[in-house]
Amino acid sequence: MSNSYLSYFNYLTDRLDKGTSQNIVPSTVAELCKKHLLISDTCKVLDIGCFNGSMLNRALMTLSNELRASIKCVGFDIDNIALTIGSRQHPHINFVCGAIEYPLPFQSTFNITILSNILHEIFSNKKRQLVSDTDAKNYVVQSVKYACQTLSKFGTLVILEGVLPPEPDKKIVVEFQNEATFNDFRSLISDFVFPITYLPLDKQIIELSARHLAIFLAKARYLHEEYCSLEATQVYQFFTENDFCEALNSAGMIIEESKVIPQPIESWNSKLKILTEGYNYPPKNIMIVARKKQA
Ligand SMILES: C[S@@+](CC[C@H](N)C(=O)[O-])C[C@H]1O[C@@H](n2cnc3c(N)ncnc32)[C@H](O)[C@@H]1O
Repeated sequence: MSNSYLSYFNYLTDRLDKGTSQNIVPSTVAELCKKHLLISDTCKVLDIGCFNGSMLNRALMTLSNELRASIKCVGFDIDNIALTIGSRQHPHINFVCGAIEYPLPFQSTFNITILSNILHEIFSNKKRQLVSDTDAKNYVVQSVKYACQTLSKFGTLVILEGVLPPEPDKKIVVEFQNEATFNDFRSLISDFVFPITYLPLDKQIIELSARHLAIFLAKARYLHEEYCSLEATQVYQFFTENDFCEALNSAGMIIEESKVIPQPIESWNSKLKILTEGYNYPPKNIMIVARKKQA
């Protein structure tokens, strides 16, 4: 296992395993399981893009032993190394290797299906194959449909993903508060696989699109990590909240909850100020809970 894979593995699993993660998916899934177990003896949960199963395991760990015993978990992922490690760490989870771009081997089976931080990888992988933005988005829409097909009638889909601000191409003026943050921005531009453009206006003041600002805010935390080269190949934001709603509606889903999660403003204020009046930091990501209308 390479050092960069190891540090990526630790980044994805450490806080979930220790129970210190701020991620709201495990507690959301645990609540949905509890609710389902009020009306049924078993609850079947599928995590698509499960990595080694740490997220599923964290959801289970927040429940009592009795409830846990009634939950059947399946983790699905394309990464065989993560699945192999996961099957040793979490023997109570069944792991299946495969790609979400094709119909999944489970139809109308699960009460809860999770798509946590996988869709941007589909979008980015397609974009890297020189596919247009529109076509890459269509692959995501198709993958969402395949995910929804795994749900039984009234089953629930939980999505956590990056989100574009409502007007992604709006021009924003920002001022870097120190040289280090400006250098981080320039380093993202030189390493990032997809183009980021900006217009210099003054010393440490630039104009850029809300989309490119959102990408920088998402990527800044990875710039000094060992797995930065992997992050540099992936765009986290590709859909607005509206695009997610449209994709889910076309897959026969009704949105029950849509929660846009803000950037940690306190940590950004000292690094980057937005000078465009009335404009706030673009969101960090979005969690959507949607219910299937029919089997
Ligand atoms: C950023 S990780 C997210 C892991 C976990 N769901 C979480 O939220 O912490 C994305 C996961 O999606 C998986 N993945 C990427 N492309 C995939 C595909 N086409 N089919 C299935 N899994 C895929 C990766 O292997 C990886 O485990």
